[in-house]
Amino acid sequence: MDLCLSSAQQPRRLGQAPRSPGGWVEAEEEATVPEDGTGGPPGDSTKTESSLHSLLKFVPTDYTSYTQEHYWFAGKRIVIQESIESFGAVVWPGATVLCQYLEEHREELNLQDAKVLEMGAGAGLVSIVASILGAQVTATDLPDVLGNLQYNLLKNTLKCTAHLPEVKELAWGEDLEENFPRSTFYYSYVLASDVVYHHYFLDKLLATMEYLSKPGTVVLWANKFRFSTDYEFLDKFKQVFDTTLLAEYPESSVKLFKGTLKWD
Ligand SMILES: C[S@@+](CC[C@H](N)C(=O)[O-])C[C@H]1O[C@@H](n2cnc3c(N)ncnc32)[C@H](O)[C@@H]1O
Repeated sequence: MDLCLSSAQQPRRLGQAPRSPGGWVEAEEEATVPEDGTGGPPGDSTKTESSLHSLLKFVPTDYTSYTQEHYWFAGKRIVIQESIESFGAVVWPGATVLCQYLEEHREELNLQDAKVLEMGAGAGLVSIVASILGAQVTATDLPDVLGNLQYNLLKNTLKCTAHLPEVKELAWGEDLEENFPRSTFYYSYVLASDVVYHHYFLDKLLATMEYLSKPGTVVLWANKFRFSTDYEFLDKFKQVFDTTLLAEYPESSVKLFKGTLKWD
């Protein structure tokens, strides 16, 4: 098995950075799903079109240099366009651990058609793997990385997933009720990899994980542990969520946790 799109179907400039919104118009023309659904993904065609729209609405991020990195999960070769110019444009170690876990536990996790939201999706690997495994994915991050994120999602999921992933802006702790009204969503899984590091938004991050969780929601959080503040975050995480350590890789210091909201 290989990439989802054949080279003829892939957005042009696959080997290069998409430099202008024009690159996306070309991609959109090539990506049009026939109205009768033939040749398109097996999901609902109206939903497919709206997801496609969400994937195409962000202007590509204009980094000065890119690399194409290759990953292999869920039977697919996944090509991720990365740039070292942003934390959110490279794949971090927690992402590969989380992808491996999703792949190995796909049956038990019951990802087929499951509603999944990824926080801090970055270059998009986790969201792509969850989509390939059948989930309905909303990939979220800060505005400046969404262009590259959507590029990678489109390149790796179009025509090979039941549900095209959606891309949405989500700044932790900001305008949550406005942008994600609680009455409108239920996520079976909230995914997060390497979202805990040296930054000033750790409390907002935890509050957002809590906000997005409802009874039954499972938070899967993978992280490389580097700083004492990472462990302080873990302590706070455990106060909010019933927490299980699912996997630990001492050689890379990555740990993967499952959290379900505590109900008093
Ligand atoms: C270290 S990167 C990890 C990216 C990806 N999850 C991975 O593991 O490859 C952290 C991600 O969190 C996002 N992020 C950082 N601060 C954020 C905030 N306040 N709100 C939303 N996302 C944020 C960054 O844009 C970036 O994509």
